[in-house]
Amino acid sequence: MEKPKEKPIIELKNVLKKYDDKTVLQNVNLVINKGEFVTLLGPSGSGKTTILRLIGGFEWTTRGEILFNGLDIKDLSPHMRDVSTIFQDYALFPHLSVENNIKYGLRLKRINLPRESIKPSIYKKQKNLQKKWAKEAKDAMKKLDKIQAEYEKELTKKKLPKNKLVKIQQWLDDSDFKYASWEVWPSLMNEKFEKKYLTRKITNDEMDKIVKDVIKLVNLEGHEKKSIDQLSGGQKQRVALARSIVIEPSLLLLDEPLSALDAKIREQMQQFLSDIQKKLGITFIFVTHDREEALRLSDKIAIMRDGVIEQYGTPKEIYDYPVNKWIANFIGDSNIFEGKIIDNDEEIISILDQKIKYWSKYKFGQNEVVDVLIRPEDIEIKKSKGLIKGIVETIVYQGSYYMIEVKHKQYKILVESASEFEIGQKVYLDWTITSMHLMTQEKEKNKNKDTVSLNLKLNKEEISNE
Ligand SMILES: Nc1ncnc2c1ncn2[C@@H]1O[C@H](COP(=O)(O)OP(=O)(O)OP(=O)(O)O)[C@@H](O)[C@H]1O
Ligand SMILES: [Mg+2]
Repeated sequence: MEKPKEKPIIELKNVLKKYDDKTVLQNVNLVINKGEFVTLLGPSGSGKTTILRLIGGFEWTTRGEILFNGLDIKDLSPHMRDVSTIFQDYALFPHLSVENNIKYGLRLKRINLPRESIKPSIYKKQKNLQKKWAKEAKDAMKKLDKIQAEYEKELTKKKLPKNKLVKIQQWLDDSDFKYASWEVWPSLMNEKFEKKYLTRKITNDEMDKIVKDVIKLVNLEGHEKKSIDQLSGGQKQRVALARSIVIEPSLLLLDEPLSALDAKIREQMQQFLSDIQKKLGITFIFVTHDREEALRLSDKIAIMRDGVIEQYGTPKEIYDYPVNKWIANFIGDSNIFEGKIIDNDEEIISILDQKIKYWSKYKFGQNEVVDVLIRPEDIEIKKSKGLIKGIVETIVYQGSYYMIEVKHKQYKILVESASEFEIGQKVYLDWTITSMHLMTQEKEKNKNKDTVSLNLKLNKEEISNE
């Protein structure tokens, strides 16, 4: 089936975020298309919430830009950002009823007037004003060009008084912002115009109807009059969801919305979120540290680590083709063995003391040492004949299968199996060529630099002591 052409709703371009001297996001690039369910997945402190806060407009980038429907987010009024957020603690009003919590979100909501009820003169007026705003912005930017050129010329002069220099420098530093605000000026003015002439406030009757519909959508019928304190965790979660979607945002940000729920309700809510997202076609940016939740729900996952997006792709891409060992381990149970490319033409690798054929869409260097991932579910365990021989060391029952650890020489290999084996049993393992995924070995992370240099120093001292 041909997919409709994908249109970005959010674009992060080279985003850097610092708190004081601490860099919490480094050069983040991310494109999220309309209607997608995108998950930010990563360990605590990796920068997930920071990205949400930047997109929601609660924080500013230190460098780089964030575009919302192609427009720089810092120049958009909150109304135009059209974003709604669900925080981890739900941020509901405990003293208000379910109904009133949901209504709260609707206070600012306006309804488009039917096109036929609007006099043609209004549209004409809008067109003329649009031209006027565009011209005003153009003229203003021309003026900026002129000032900028003059100041730049002045800067080349040798004798410039200090206070003048500071003034010019400040002006130039701010000039990006000045240009940007004129760039969005016509659309901001247009938005104001439309609000005034093409929309109206919603009536109380309409509000009641909208609230009733959304309460039905989130299965909270019968709980309308209850106060928040009288609800269970899952119900509170649904009120938070209702309050966010009732304004029909085009983007919903969800920061670990399910982390406070117990396993069973959590699974129900996952399904529920996924259904609602599809039904309403809202773009979701969802934060979690739960890999299974991410794999189950997302169209795309961004794997975050230390303020960097390490990989961005579909759950399948990330699970089957992680770009490094860290991601492979983070996203699922893994066997990762070091391998050495023996022949990069014939595609022969030495792994687990065997020389076997491999397949990869990437070309590796002759003699290059790589990490090889084989998922436990891709290994076949049997009683006779196989690529390698081993002894069953441990067996853990996982509900629908056994996770078995097999020892082969100095290696330990995890295998999933539906059939039972015994500890100490001699077994054979087999896997297909396509279930081996070769990854470039990671360079030493900066974080480890200190320990590395310390070791070097120690070695030197040892040497000089001798
Ligand atoms: N206002 C702030 N001032 C200083 N440092 C901050 C601030 N907010 C976040 N940080 C730091 O930025 C880094 C990223 O934080 P962030 O909250 O984005 O992580 P996270 O991935 O959401 O983690 P978690 O899974 O624990 O919620 C952390 O090291 C955090 O301490
Ligand atoms: Mg967080």
